[in-house]
Amino acid sequence: MSSVVTEERIPNNVNLSSDKKLQRALEAWQPNFISWWKEMGPEGFQQDDVFLRTAISVTSEGWANFDYVKMPDYRWGIFLADEVADRKVGFGDEMGKPVWKEVPGEHRNTLKRLIVTQGDTEPASVEQQRLLGQTCPSMYDLRNLFQVNVEEGRHLWAMVYLLHSHFGRDGREDAEELLLRRSGDENKPRMLGAFNEPCTDWLSFFMFTYFTDRDGKFQLLALSESAFDPLSRTTRFMLTEEAHHMFVGETGVLRVCERTAEQMKTHKLDSPEAVRKMGLIDLPTMQKYLNLWYTLSLDLFGGEISSNAASFFATGIKGRAKEDSYDDHVCLEKFYGMDVPKNGAFTHEDVPLRNAMNEVLRDAYVEDCQRGVDKWNRTIAEHGIDAKLTLPSRRFHRHIGLFADVACDPSGNIITKEAFEKQKGSWLPTDDDKAYVQSLMQKPVYDPKQMASWIAAPKHGIKGRPVDFEYVRHQV
Ligand SMILES: [Fe+2]
Ligand SMILES: [Fe+2]
Repeated sequence: MSSVVTEERIPNNVNLSSDKKLQRALEAWQPNFISWWKEMGPEGFQQDDVFLRTAISVTSEGWANFDYVKMPDYRWGIFLADEVADRKVGFGDEMGKPVWKEVPGEHRNTLKRLIVTQGDTEPASVEQQRLLGQTCPSMYDLRNLFQVNVEEGRHLWAMVYLLHSHFGRDGREDAEELLLRRSGDENKPRMLGAFNEPCTDWLSFFMFTYFTDRDGKFQLLALSESAFDPLSRTTRFMLTEEAHHMFVGETGVLRVCERTAEQMKTHKLDSPEAVRKMGLIDLPTMQKYLNLWYTLSLDLFGGEISSNAASFFATGIKGRAKEDSYDDHVCLEKFYGMDVPKNGAFTHEDVPLRNAMNEVLRDAYVEDCQRGVDKWNRTIAEHGIDAKLTLPSRRFHRHIGLFADVACDPSGNIITKEAFEKQKGSWLPTDDDKAYVQSLMQKPVYDPKQMASWIAAPKHGIKGRPVDFEYVRHQV
């Protein structure tokens, strides 16, 4: 099962040709997907040869093949991680029972909703990033952007496969609608907040792939624990692709930090203004972008206290990231202590653990986010610059959950809404900041030998190729 049949119209490792009805339904969806890709995918590069990896096997060794391909010819397909023999439900009320190969009737709507919500984020991010190629800092970065984009397209395929194979006619209708919503469109927006935000410059792109794709990682980890086995298997394979997206974000921000810090040291630049005069991104601006994308991504985990989260856990639909690492998989006796805002102050509340599962997943996410921030800070410190990037409090700038209507500063203190409005410009990117960052990126760098001056070159190229390899054969 682990190798992928690539010669079929839809590459797959699910033995698609044995189910003619499903195969026909997916083949009918395929041209609609391609039209969506041509309309909403990377603009201006559809005819270029791009050095991309494509899945040819789903085992961790060598699942990928690297070669030049035009993006519309990318072999999008359906890849599930191998079946685990005798897999049992790992948590909740159904703990220890065999996993579900089919959707139980009583969980049909809930599962469909989760799959559609996950599926909606995938094309959304492609739409958000569709113009970035026109301002790329290098061919290396341009190629990474396109790799992320085609794989988000494949993640959409992964969810559409589940909708088509397990949810009948309304699954097929949902699959059509996934191609009809548009990121940021007032009338038909994407389903989740962060996926309607504009992502129009490369600093945003790197923050997005670091923070927002990492939300994806944790959602996929939680879904990979699911008692619905096809969902578990599909998300397990998606995680292998997701790792590259977060790598792009982590190393992207790192290279911006490196370039700025190195130039600050060389030229003894001691103010953000001096840094900007040199055409670099100053650290306070980086902090503001970090604050924005981190907090938008925190919202994606949902409310701190959630009866939905409790029932997902109870029924076995959605677990915690790395459920194996916990001792108690039933979680009926335990509580999660949290500070709940009430009348301008905090009161401590012990919430039944199942109702706090969103917060448990957010905890794991926050810890994972911190690791990259530490690396960025080490790079800044290595250049002798006395400054640090920090993750703001998770109470800051929230739109979902307990803090949606409570204004907090980045340290997590409750402040008045007026005070928030007054100081917002020093915490989150202002129009001026955005205009400045965009001004650095007006001209794309299409010469493989060149790198934009606001970012350091990467340490290594892709798949053993040099950094100045022609990763995209761009026809101007
Ligand atoms: Fe994805
Ligand atoms: Fe991703």
